[in-house]
Amino acid sequence: MTVIDPRIARTPHAPGLFAALAPMDGVTDWVYRDLLTRMHGGDCGISLCVSEFVRVTRMTVVPKVILKHCPEVQTGGTTASGVPVFVQLLGGQPEPMATTAARCVAMGAPGVDINFGCPAKTVNKSDGGATILQFPHRLEAITAAVRKAVPDSTPVTVKIRLGWENADHVEDIARSIEQGGASWLTIHARTRMQGYRPPVDWSSIGRAREAVRMPVVANGDLNTVDAIEACQEISGCTAFMIGRGAMGRPRLFRQLRGHRDPQLDAAWLCEQLQEYAQRILEGGGTEAVALGRCKQWLRLAAPASDVYAGMFTTLKRSQDLASLLRGLRPEGIPSCSAGLALSPAP
Ligand SMILES: Cc1cc2nc3c(=O)[nH]c(=O)nc-3n(C[C@H](O)[C@H](O)[C@H](O)COP(=O)(O)O)c2cc1C
Repeated sequence: MTVIDPRIARTPHAPGLFAALAPMDGVTDWVYRDLLTRMHGGDCGISLCVSEFVRVTRMTVVPKVILKHCPEVQTGGTTASGVPVFVQLLGGQPEPMATTAARCVAMGAPGVDINFGCPAKTVNKSDGGATILQFPHRLEAITAAVRKAVPDSTPVTVKIRLGWENADHVEDIARSIEQGGASWLTIHARTRMQGYRPPVDWSSIGRAREAVRMPVVANGDLNTVDAIEACQEISGCTAFMIGRGAMGRPRLFRQLRGHRDPQLDAAWLCEQLQEYAQRILEGGGTEAVALGRCKQWLRLAAPASDVYAGMFTTLKRSQDLASLLRGLRPEGIPSCSAGLALSPAP
């Protein structure tokens, strides 16, 4: 087994282990980022967070929208426990992408990430996300425009999938992005057409890594320490981004650094979801938003344990936030540690 350097690298260039939290639209908002990064008194093991994507169309995005996605720009560009948060932009036009990136940095973003990986049909139809993977010259032009618009010292990073239909061109894609001046590249080891279906293809990440000099961050199904070690072996990558795996196993970032923390139980998840909902409401979010986001967290945590899966099955039909939260009270859960059989949410 490879020994992983436990120091927290804030970039994949720095000494130590780089383990970032993946952006996940609909759940990894600032409240979630705060909850996760404050665990263990802030010693959460997370190197970096990336905001949910900010959609850029024809105009520079207004400050209000940037703030909504990434209020951390007002607090030094980090979560309350000091983990940097990059703002992620999604769009197909170099000019508004560049002016929006400049605005994000002027507002306090410590870095900008460009999303060329989103597989959503609505986004792809309107010239955003993974669609651009089909046009390497456009990947380069957009990356270069954003790079030019922000100070040299500000990282501009890019997140992609392996390709649109297959992984055959991943080297060309990576080279175009490097040519555009990206600081590093994160690759989700699936194609656009694959959606989220198995299998992940970590070996194609390795091909891209060998084609460029910039660091390549591996992403996709890195849900356990064993999976991350296997990915390291197969892709040769030493920097990682974790998404869905963090929803049910938030201690993974610490476990990777050698901490022997046990898996958290259902009581923990209930408590977190209660607080998550409460804080979304306090921040002006509607009950419908809080309900949707809590269900999304539960859905993504479900694969981590049978207990969480049981919670999701029971609570996914909750029609309103109050009934979901009632179902998340310890008395609604016969056993908070194992073999959970939840009483249905009223
Ligand atoms: C619900 C959901 C929302 C996502 N939203 C984003 C997003 O806003 N930006 C982005 O670059 N990737 C997004 N992704 C992709 C993830 O960042 C990540 O690349 C993908 O889930 C694979 O990693 P994982 O297996 O660790 O989850 C999203 C994924 C999910 C499941």
